Amino acid sequence: MKDVQRIAIVDPSDATREPLRNLLLGVEAVWLEAECSRFEFFIDVARQSCPDAVVITLDADHQKALQLIQQLTLEFPHMPILAVSARGDGQSILQALRAGAKEFLTAPVILEELLLALQRLRANRAMGGSDTNNPLNGTTRTESLVVSIVGSKGGVGCTSVAVNLSCCIAQEPKYNVALVDLDLALGDADVALDLIPDYTLADVAMNVDRLDMQFLRRSLCKHESGLSLLPHPVQMEDIALIHDEHLGRVIGLLRASYSHLIFDLSKRFTPTDLSAMRMSDAVLLVAQLELTSLRNVVRMLHTMDKEEGLGDKVKVVMNRVGVDDSDITLEKAQETIGRPIYWQVPNDYKSMLGARNAGVPLLIHAPKCRVHQSLTGLANALCGKTPAEAPKEKRRSFFSFR
Ligand SMILES: Nc1ncnc2c1ncn2[C@@H]1O[C@H](COP(=O)(O)OP(=O)(O)OP(=O)(O)O)[C@@H](O)[C@H]1O
Ligand SMILES: [Mg+2]
Repeated sequence: MKDVQRIAIVDPSDATREPLRNLLLGVEAVWLEAECSRFEFFIDVARQSCPDAVVITLDADHQKALQLIQQLTLEFPHMPILAVSARGDGQSILQALRAGAKEFLTAPVILEELLLALQRLRANRAMGGSDTNNPLNGTTRTESLVVSIVGSKGGVGCTSVAVNLSCCIAQEPKYNVALVDLDLALGDADVALDLIPDYTLADVAMNVDRLDMQFLRRSLCKHESGLSLLPHPVQMEDIALIHDEHLGRVIGLLRASYSHLIFDLSKRFTPTDLSAMRMSDAVLLVAQLELTSLRNVVRMLHTMDKEEGLGDKVKVVMNRVGVDDSDITLEKAQETIGRPIYWQVPNDYKSMLGARNAGVPLLIHAPKCRVHQSLTGLANALCGKTPAEAPKEKRRSFFSFR
């Protein structure tokens, strides 16, 4: 679970306070610490509840609300204040900010804008500090880490990597991990985890206009490993319901609720796949030591490098290293690809197939197997955990190309 942000709200009008409260209640990372319907009582409420941020709706009485903001700013100089008003004109915004508000939103409040404003308030409160280190670019971040898994040909091991990597990350109690099956036609992450979904991406897409955080969270099925899964549509014809803008919205909301998002993409380089990769912090390109796969890696990198910021995110993951019938060496593969192999996953057909047939992840089926150890190391590397946390002898044998 991400750190919870404790919020107190004040709004004398039931008509606007209730929708705002409902929005906030739907955000997992938010705890509604206090709710007040009188401006004059709120300073006491703030003193008693010491919230991480306050939300003040101005419209019932602008003058009183602005005075309250000033009073709060005087007494709690570091308290992040979000002002909300139906009057979104420059004058009103300026007055609220001059009084001491850090953020301003126009009512009715839209969930995405609220989440972004809360994120900024959180960052503000931390005075530039943050919740999670971003090991991928060395900066700090308050948002989730988003990783796309894409393959260089069919059957190369994307779903195996996506499912098992997600389960490994989900083992950390402070993380909240969701796997989204974006292989819309033929995905099988639900089969790999033996989950029978009540809802899929299609339900989410169909309800996108009235999507709130509670509905979205209900749409994900929970696996015993702690991982949440948003599966691909059950009916093939429902794929057409999922538009790019839906995906953007869904991912935006998921980012606010989960610390880690993993996407299992299709092999068809569809607009959905590309959007997902653009929204990701890292793209794991899964390949094998085999001619077609390596040639496709080169082609894919060539295309991705053309788009600013996309090629740089790609990390090549070589799967099934050590498989008997390969005569291409890792050195040769690196030379062909023209960039380092970020991670190697050993070949272990027995464990992989056994886990898949049993519908359980490796961490349940074969926690000691080499593939699981390798994927645990990959999870640690992506999450910025120290290499010391990965098992030593395995690192020496398998991760020498990092
Ligand atoms: N490291 C590995 N060692 C041995 N077998 C593996 C390994 N990784 C994956 N496999 C096996 O390869 C097969 C294909 O794996 P998977 O379904 O994960 O690939 P995919 O890229 O998702 O395929 P698709 O193109 O159908 O989406 C499975 O039988 C799986 O058990
Ligand atoms: Mg797959």
